[in-house]
Amino acid sequence: MRLIHHITEPDTHITLFGKKLEIPILAAPIGGVPFNMGGKISEEEYIFAVLEGCHNEGTIGCTGDGIPAFIHEAGFAAIRSLNGEGIPFIKPWEDKELFLKLDKAKDAGASIVSMDIDASGLITLKLMGRPVTPKPPDKLREIIEKTSMNFILKGIMTPDDARLAIEVGASGIVVSNHGGRVFDHTPGVAEVLPEISEAVQG
Ligand SMILES: Cc1cc2nc3c(=O)[nH]c(=O)nc-3n(C[C@H](O)[C@H](O)[C@H](O)COP(=O)(O)O)c2cc1C
Repeated sequence: MRLIHHITEPDTHITLFGKKLEIPILAAPIGGVPFNMGGKISEEEYIFAVLEGCHNEGTIGCTGDGIPAFIHEAGFAAIRSLNGEGIPFIKPWEDKELFLKLDKAKDAGASIVSMDIDASGLITLKLMGRPVTPKPPDKLREIIEKTSMNFILKGIMTPDDARLAIEVGASGIVVSNHGGRVFDHTPGVAEVLPEISEAVQG
């Protein structure tokens, strides 16, 4: 608590990928709302409310991906309704599904896209016969080079992965363990954030 200074109207804005954000906070991608959150609200109601709320407050909301298709379809529709304001997070699918969804993200007007590699190995998707897997550097480079959108990699938890993410062309990283929903016994994000920030020099 410091109260001896000249600031009366704090300015919390940052610029991210050329967009001015009033606060340095984005709404995380949350998908599968009807079955993850007790069925009180539909995917569409949830994601439209989050994206519009973020937009009205001068920041950006993110959208999720998964099975059933209504998860990402609701996200793309919400982004389209806000003229591209929103960041779609697409899972590390095999090529066909991945590139189809990257195309849909672009069609929706998004200028920033992300891949949640922290979902690699998600058992529910594997059991449905639709596995999502880790990606080697060459594959990531190919994916990033094929998209004209700013590309964020979500799920960076070590300095090595952070350096690799930048080497393969990522425009940004999200330090995340997917909320501990995929892998057991990961470190906490706050524990690894300082060493990752240092590795990528902020
Ligand atoms: C119900 C639920 C659904 C989620 N769906 C997605 C998703 O579709 N895509 C994604 O990247 N992350 C998803 N996440 C993970 C969150 O975006 C986020 O990573 C997690 O809540 C932890 O926060 P943190 O990453 O800020 O540490 C989901 C989390 C929850 C609780």
